[in-house]
Amino acid sequence: MDTSEIRKKYFTFFEKKGHTVIPSASLRPENDPTTLFVGSGMQPLLPYLLGEKHPRGVRLVNSQKSFRAEDIEEVGDNRHTTFFEMLGNWSLGDYFKKEQLPWAFEFLTEEIGLNPEKLYVTVFIGDETLGIPKDTESVQIWKGLFKEKGIEAIDIEIGSEEDGYAKGMQQGDKEGRIFYYDAKKNWWSRSGTPDKMPVGEPGGPDSEMFYDFGTEHNTSFGEHCHPNCDCGRFMEIGNSVFMEYIKKEDGSFVQLPQKNVDFGGGLERIAAATNGNSDIFLIDTLQVIIEYIEKTSGKKYDDTRYTHAFRVIADHIRAAIFIIADGVVPSNSEQGYFVRRLIRRAVRYADLLGVPDGVLAASVTAVSGTYKDQYEILLEKGGEIAGIIAAEEEKFRKTLTRGLKEFEKLSNNNISGNDAFILFTTYGFPYELTEELAEEKGISVDRKGFDVEMKKHQELSRSGSEQKFKGGLVDHGEMSIKYHTATHLLNQALRNVLGNSVQQKGSNITPERMRFDFSFDRKMTDEEKKKVEDIVNEHIKAAIVVTNQELPLEEAKKLGAIGLFEEKYGDVVKVYTIGDFSLEFCGGPHVTNTSQLGHFKIVKEESISAGVRRIRAVLE
Ligand code: ALA
Repeated sequence: MDTSEIRKKYFTFFEKKGHTVIPSASLRPENDPTTLFVGSGMQPLLPYLLGEKHPRGVRLVNSQKSFRAEDIEEVGDNRHTTFFEMLGNWSLGDYFKKEQLPWAFEFLTEEIGLNPEKLYVTVFIGDETLGIPKDTESVQIWKGLFKEKGIEAIDIEIGSEEDGYAKGMQQGDKEGRIFYYDAKKNWWSRSGTPDKMPVGEPGGPDSEMFYDFGTEHNTSFGEHCHPNCDCGRFMEIGNSVFMEYIKKEDGSFVQLPQKNVDFGGGLERIAAATNGNSDIFLIDTLQVIIEYIEKTSGKKYDDTRYTHAFRVIADHIRAAIFIIADGVVPSNSEQGYFVRRLIRRAVRYADLLGVPDGVLAASVTAVSGTYKDQYEILLEKGGEIAGIIAAEEEKFRKTLTRGLKEFEKLSNNNISGNDAFILFTTYGFPYELTEELAEEKGISVDRKGFDVEMKKHQELSRSGSEQKFKGGLVDHGEMSIKYHTATHLLNQALRNVLGNSVQQKGSNITPERMRFDFSFDRKMTDEEKKKVEDIVNEHIKAAIVVTNQELPLEEAKKLGAIGLFEEKYGDVVKVYTIGDFSLEFCGGPHVTNTSQLGHFKIVKEESISAGVRRIRAVLE
């Protein structure tokens, strides 16, 4: 089934149940400074979940364009995409569990014909400390629904994801069908689990539906398989959130004035389930790009040497088209930065496949065609979008040319792991590109050495991505990360105000405050402190994207990177950039945008030893 057919069936099904179809909101959030892109269906509808009246009523249905920037690096497996559509049906204080679960089940099994034997569901196990009960009500509803299909649905208490791997799905000689998990898996709010939610944030328990692709469990993920296992057997295709709580000042939860339903189902994933193939890149809207690339490159998607590259190109081009259609152009800041990154990554991978220049831009027409029923604007703006992509490709070609020159220099001998890594980080060469170029020259590349460097790199970035996203929003609980980014702003602001002799001597961060030690030989005046605060706050307000890259140490020094570093001469170092304001050696993690920091305030400035001062500051 193609995606437009599923979207249409979904709308019609819920229209029959009294819903009004509303259009997707733009990918650029309105009045929501906490995020660069809309990453879930509920974001644009937040005011209505909190009680504001929606002009179209209390039952709505839509398909919301969503972009999750944090998934860029994940793209390449068979299920992650940065852009996706989220099918949503909404009860704004109207129906609740006993309507929602049967409708969701009916839609999947009757309307689009998924085999109920292949559906598994999860529910919230409850949290006594918060006074939020175990969701036995949903379990009873699910049992009845499966029973109507002749399926005895056994419920099993799992708990955490780790428990899932330990316990598995069997109860005696029977397999479970309904699984209780903790808040990490079955609670939804924009900022994740209850403890991470800021005061005033709505959230609630949810019930997820999984499709079983029937593949063998891979024990490298854990001993036993279970619905939330990552081995690939199960894919989450829908989530009914029972949005009924709001967090209070004292950390407790009370009922919202209205009980809402926020259902979100990944359109692409549902389409994959109807194909019976877990590779979501086989669906129509991504296949058109893959076919186009196959034609122009002569390479095959099925050839496992190239599958990854095909997926990156297909995902990134489609995402770039949608973001550009919503009025963003490639640039170095904010949303533009992500479009730039998407296009440039796609170009790199296109080169790897030997796709001629300009093909990416030319694929816009084909992509727009698959969306003609829903997003006419893509066809209307197709020429303009293609022009923007082509121009960005051309710009990037210039950097690539420099990278090729570097490769020529390095390739008199076999390429070391470190060289391959520098080509990757500094010039944007995927490893496979270096390997291909090397092959053409009849030299080798040290894959193992590259992997070692890459591992170090990933360990650094992993610490950065530990902020958990479950809805595309940055986790409000991760105060330490915010403070960390604030130290970079403070470091540079101090240098601007007190002079470049200021050097960082250390810092200490807790979720409540930051301390920053620096070399300076006298007390700061009130006026200086105010200036420093103002500079930091200006750069928070300016909503600047925080980026990082890895550079050879000498190169980073030449660029004027500041801060503490311990690497040996000749090493590759990681630097974080905040617009053109701050460039600092650092392993991360950091927020993705300074706008997440809030308001910066110096609480105290004091001497801690001869020539060293300490600032205590908070984010409010
Ligand atoms: N808001 C829910 C989600 O994004 C449906 O998963």
